[in-house]
Amino acid sequence: VTKAVVLGASRGIGAALVSRLLERGQFDGVYAGCRNPAQSAALEDLGSQYPQQLICIAVDTSNESTIAAAAQRVDGEIGLMIYAAGVLHDDVVKPEKRLEQLDPSALQRSFAVNAIGPMLAAKHFVAKLTRQDRVVIANISARVGSIADNRLGGWYGYRTSKAAQNMFTKTLALELSRRLENAICVALHPGTVDTALSRPFQRRVPQHKLFTPSLAAQQLLSVIDGLQPSDSGGFFAWDGSRIPW
Ligand SMILES: NC(=O)c1ccc[n+]([C@@H]2O[C@H](COP(=O)([O-])OP(=O)(O)OC[C@H]3O[C@@H](n4cnc5c(N)ncnc54)[C@H](OP(=O)(O)O)[C@@H]3O)[C@@H](O)[C@H]2O)c1
Repeated sequence: VTKAVVLGASRGIGAALVSRLLERGQFDGVYAGCRNPAQSAALEDLGSQYPQQLICIAVDTSNESTIAAAAQRVDGEIGLMIYAAGVLHDDVVKPEKRLEQLDPSALQRSFAVNAIGPMLAAKHFVAKLTRQDRVVIANISARVGSIADNRLGGWYGYRTSKAAQNMFTKTLALELSRRLENAICVALHPGTVDTALSRPFQRRVPQHKLFTPSLAAQQLLSVIDGLQPSDSGGFFAWDGSRIPW
């Protein structure tokens, strides 16, 4: 039996994924990483329900040494690794509507969390991925990171950092096809999900297209369940449909 790892697990989609995985009980333990696990109400709650199975780890995915230390803490082999950390807006990052709003420190922050974070996570956790069983590496991306699908423009930092993340996912899938034949590595779009990340942008989203984190987690896990080896290196939406790069 293998372990699951979810990075970006304190709230939103990541926390819902951890909750579903614990409920399913298919993994021997779930490692949940975020910057301050002690401050996450969701993880605290899950910790009291699953004291043996949930292991919280402090990871700032924009800080490589914390990722390396987190990977060291994993005891056993990983069968599922989900990178769900992401930033669209915070105290530094504001989604740009026009060119003049581009700000190097905001761009750096978006790239650090959305693009470089998944790369460093893969770098440090790869040695722990199981060789015995199927192993899935799922990077939570966003449809707006698709170059082919970009019709509206705007959101430079978010779009370009997700496009960079997507290229990384594809490149990693190619390397893993040579190193770890049992690995499936994909980019996943969760749909629009009612979390702090999307809250300022939900006004035009019809109610039936706004998923609860719990439903989003369920949908993403059923896409993950259905992945075949030939799907590695692909970009999939919450309903399993392929998204063009
Ligand atoms: N919500 C949507 O509609 C939507 C749509 C498309 C794609 N997505 C993608 O889905 C993923 C999850 O988004 P969400 O909606 O669940 O967002 P959220 O509720 O804002 O949660 C973001 C998560 O990322 C973590 N995080 C941010 N910076 C981090 C860092 N430096 N180190 C470690 N963890 C960090 C946060 O943890 P702490 O801040 O506690 O450390 C939190 O757990 C993101 O990649 C997002 O781009 C979301």
